[in-house]
Amino acid sequence: MCGIVGYIGPKPAVPFLLEGLKRLEYRGYDSAGVALLGEHGLQVVKAVGKVSQLAQRVSRGRTEHLGFGHTRWATHGVPSEANAHPHTSVDGRIALVHNGIIENYAPLREELRQEGVVFKSETDTEVLVHLIARHYHGDLAEAVRITLGLVDGAYGICVAHQDEPDRLVVAKMGSPLLLGLGEEENFVASDRQALVGHSERVIVLEDGEMAVIRAEDISVFTIDMRPVEREAVELQEELERIDKGEFPHFMLKEIFEQPRTIGDAFAGRLLPEEGGVRLGGIASVLDRLKACKRLILTACGTSWHAALVGEYILEDMLRIPVEVEYASEFRYRNPVIDEDCCVVAISQSGETADTLAAMKEAKRKGALVLGICNRVGSAIARESDAGVYLHAGPEIGVASTKAFTSQLVVLILLAVHMGRLRHMGYNHGRQVVEDLKALPDRVREILATAPEIKRIALKLAEHNNALYLGRGLFFPVALEGALKLKEISYIHAEGYPAAEMKHGPIALIDEHMPVIVVAPHDDNYEKVVSNIQEVRARRGKVVVIATKADTKLQELADEIILIPDATQATLPILAAIPLQLLSYYIAVERGCDVDQPRNLAKSVTVE
Ligand code: G6P
Repeated sequence: MCGIVGYIGPKPAVPFLLEGLKRLEYRGYDSAGVALLGEHGLQVVKAVGKVSQLAQRVSRGRTEHLGFGHTRWATHGVPSEANAHPHTSVDGRIALVHNGIIENYAPLREELRQEGVVFKSETDTEVLVHLIARHYHGDLAEAVRITLGLVDGAYGICVAHQDEPDRLVVAKMGSPLLLGLGEEENFVASDRQALVGHSERVIVLEDGEMAVIRAEDISVFTIDMRPVEREAVELQEELERIDKGEFPHFMLKEIFEQPRTIGDAFAGRLLPEEGGVRLGGIASVLDRLKACKRLILTACGTSWHAALVGEYILEDMLRIPVEVEYASEFRYRNPVIDEDCCVVAISQSGETADTLAAMKEAKRKGALVLGICNRVGSAIARESDAGVYLHAGPEIGVASTKAFTSQLVVLILLAVHMGRLRHMGYNHGRQVVEDLKALPDRVREILATAPEIKRIALKLAEHNNALYLGRGLFFPVALEGALKLKEISYIHAEGYPAAEMKHGPIALIDEHMPVIVVAPHDDNYEKVVSNIQEVRARRGKVVVIATKADTKLQELADEIILIPDATQATLPILAAIPLQLLSYYIAVERGCDVDQPRNLAKSVTVE
């Protein structure tokens, strides 16, 4: 987790560092710090809290031309100034920032302690800087190289030594690191977002690689000293796409972007005349996809909920077994996989450590591995045999919204594509394609009801618990609704299959328990109506998401949010949107930090 930025060149480093850290706050925001190297030597400034706290302590007038910074998501040690990065050597001549986890830090720390090193922090990272100091004999890159040979774990690091003021040394294993190229200046960032507007071409470091970065050149080599020739690639993102615009929060902006992002997910991919779709990214593996006898979808968090919806849709359209696995469980349980199996990894960031590791495990066992992700060129995209991008643009709000609905669109596209290779008929394919085309307008219609959803949210905001229910395709939507609420409002919320409620959660229901039921008209509708009756009989407050033609639920529910009707496959997308808005308005009403909820991070690059 954590974000890293670095600069070396003719300009003062501070403006880029502070702006870059701000943009990387989605990776963690419990403390931050910078190291600056100039005529007064190496200086470190840190602050607990967000980058804005740090910015108050670092004068914008500082003139150092070399510097780097870090925004932290605590793993080892509480958020405090001592635990914030950069960490420094005992003599203060070396400073280092680190993203990742050093797994064998405990014995190394003990060894250093016995040598007399006094540790200033509780972090795993601090051993790195002391080891580099121990191995420093006038060549920083060499000292870093020797140190990395001693550690196990994941890292992206950036280091500087007071005696080598013309260079930054960086290295990568498991955590992302990009080098941005400029005119007589160079940049370091753990994420391309920090580089937008500063550098148009980047070198992507691979695992096991290091680089020495000077203002005028960059040399890349492996940790075992083999030189690396790496082409720079274009940085594509545009600055305005990571701006809130007129919205008070990124999350709200991203919710309202969905008519466009959903359209972008299928743009150029629909073939109505053929009743099918075109997915260029998987064209090279069509034969294997055709032969595939089993699908496993793997992901974490909201992407895992998208996978659960995908399971219903893919199984229905393909008639082959489809399973969904938490990536963190999948990778450690020796899953049964063979060459007839296709594993689909789903990830907004394309960086989630567990998802990446699950893919590697699936590949090792011979499965075809597809990636569905948003970040172009991300680690997961690169690890896939083939894949489909979401094209949703940068998602900044920590709680995923537009990426979720785009994931659902792409899963539908995949289902139609694979279905048409098998038994899916033209008419069925055509119907789904036409339904996808109608989605953006239907989403607009729901967004237009935001004031009504806000009114309901204000009534729910005072509660400390909530239960979300749904059946079939809407069970995972209920899970996602509950996750959204707990993530950003800190209200305890649970998602349950509506029929399972009577096997436990019903004990919780009384007049203080709001129950949000996702009940668009489908084959399970009548059953869900009975489940709602059960809640009402126990005086639970019922908020229903229903399709427009519904009359029965209008009478039964305390509150009802109506969505347009659509075919089964696209209804989960429509049903998810009011739940996003509901959580958003509840969290705002409770005064929560919607875009950066406590303890969370946007990209989880630790296991
Ligand atoms: C974090 C984020 C979630 C996200 C999950 C998986 O926990 O806070 O919003 O769903 O990671 O991330 P991914 O980028 O793999 O979809």
